[in-house]
Amino acid sequence: MLSTALVLFVAAAPAKSQALLDKGKAAFQINCVACHGEKGAGDGPGAAALNPKPRNYAKDPFKQGDKLEDIFATLTKGVPGTPMVAFAHLAEEDRWALAYWVLELKGAGNDKPAVLDAGTKTPPKKK
Ligand code: HEC
Repeated sequence: MLSTALVLFVAAAPAKSQALLDKGKAAFQINCVACHGEKGAGDGPGAAALNPKPRNYAKDPFKQGDKLEDIFATLTKGVPGTPMVAFAHLAEEDRWALAYWVLELKGAGNDKPAVLDAGTKTPPKKK
């Protein structure tokens, strides 16, 4: 199964759904919060030691592009020369789910409400 996922790099994104967002959120907790922080603010427990540091998704422009496909590509290839490793070992569907979740976190910092973000207990903080 893993080998099939690896060659399907250009596969089309699945449609956004609550189930996919839930999956993305869960996968983010497991794989990403250590560096990116729960809300993607770049303040995970491991972030202080990183160079370069992860972006605050909600506030900072994305260096690798902020379209769904760009984020999927970042996850698949990583960002060479930074602590952001590739997550190509995750199932393709999980990478799309994560890409949707990253966009959700990005949107949560703007004034746009995160419409599908039913699983989050605390409302997005404004500074
Ligand atoms: C070991 C720490 C670490 C982990 C774990 C990690 N990241 Fe990253 N990530 C980084 C760093 C550092 C950068 C910034 C790289 C740079 O400066 O371009 C980054 C960059 C990114 C970017 C690109 C942001 C931009 O500016 O374009 C995305 C998207 C991203 N990470 C998503 C994730 C997701 C989703 C996960 C979990 C599957 C994850 N990362 C796990 C450290 C990490």
